[in-house]
Amino acid sequence: MSASRILQNLRSAAPLVAPSLLSCDFAELREEIRRVERAGARLLHLDIMDGHFVPNLSFGIPVVEAIRRSTELPLDVHLMISEPARYVRRFREAGADLLTVHIETLPDPRPVLEEIRSLGAAAGISLNPPTPVERLDGCLDLCDLVLVMSVMPGFGGQKFEPVALDKLRHLKAAAPGVLLSIDGGVNVETVDGCAAAGADLLVAGSALFSQKDYGRFLREMTGRAKDAKEVRV
Ligand code: DX5
Ligand code: ZN
Repeated sequence: MSASRILQNLRSAAPLVAPSLLSCDFAELREEIRRVERAGARLLHLDIMDGHFVPNLSFGIPVVEAIRRSTELPLDVHLMISEPARYVRRFREAGADLLTVHIETLPDPRPVLEEIRSLGAAAGISLNPPTPVERLDGCLDLCDLVLVMSVMPGFGGQKFEPVALDKLRHLKAAAPGVLLSIDGGVNVETVDGCAAAGADLLVAGSALFSQKDYGRFLREMTGRAKDAKEVRV
């Protein structure tokens, strides 16, 4: 499916929970993907860590390829890596549909965002909690998605940092056509605020994979997010 079609589908179905596989049981990866599919997930969020930009390692290109072979769902690939321009083509070839790079790794984000689009993927930019949202001013026209971090990237299961909500509100006004995603500490307690502030995609790792019933969790999260969004509108 083309990037523009995927973006259109996500936009019309928003708010949506994007399961972050970082917290799944990797010994049962294919089965975990089946479970989130059956639970109603509409995309998968994949966290790539290099032990350099973030103080942790996760998985890389062969695992993204394996996930691609296991599902038709769009793959939302979050590159927490230094020098992302060196790798975007290979992640695209591995099956990424949305590719997000970090502004902190890029003196000039425009060339890599252009490259991601030219590869036929949707282009995303992410920013850490301490990074001012104004850092994105010069590149929002090249972004299909902004991934606002509500924790310092590197680990699942951290506490939500509310500074992310101000950034969502700012971006909702400054870039109304851009899909807004929030990542880190998203759970039943924090989801309402995220949706009310304008988040379209709610990345959830530990809060989801610690549940017995993924379907129930996704329904509860989506229901709360929809209610909160209606209050805002
Ligand atoms: C953190 C990753 C997240 C992570 C979120 O660096 O980018 O996607 O999986 O995990 P939770 O939902 O547990 O905060
Ligand atoms: Zn992530």
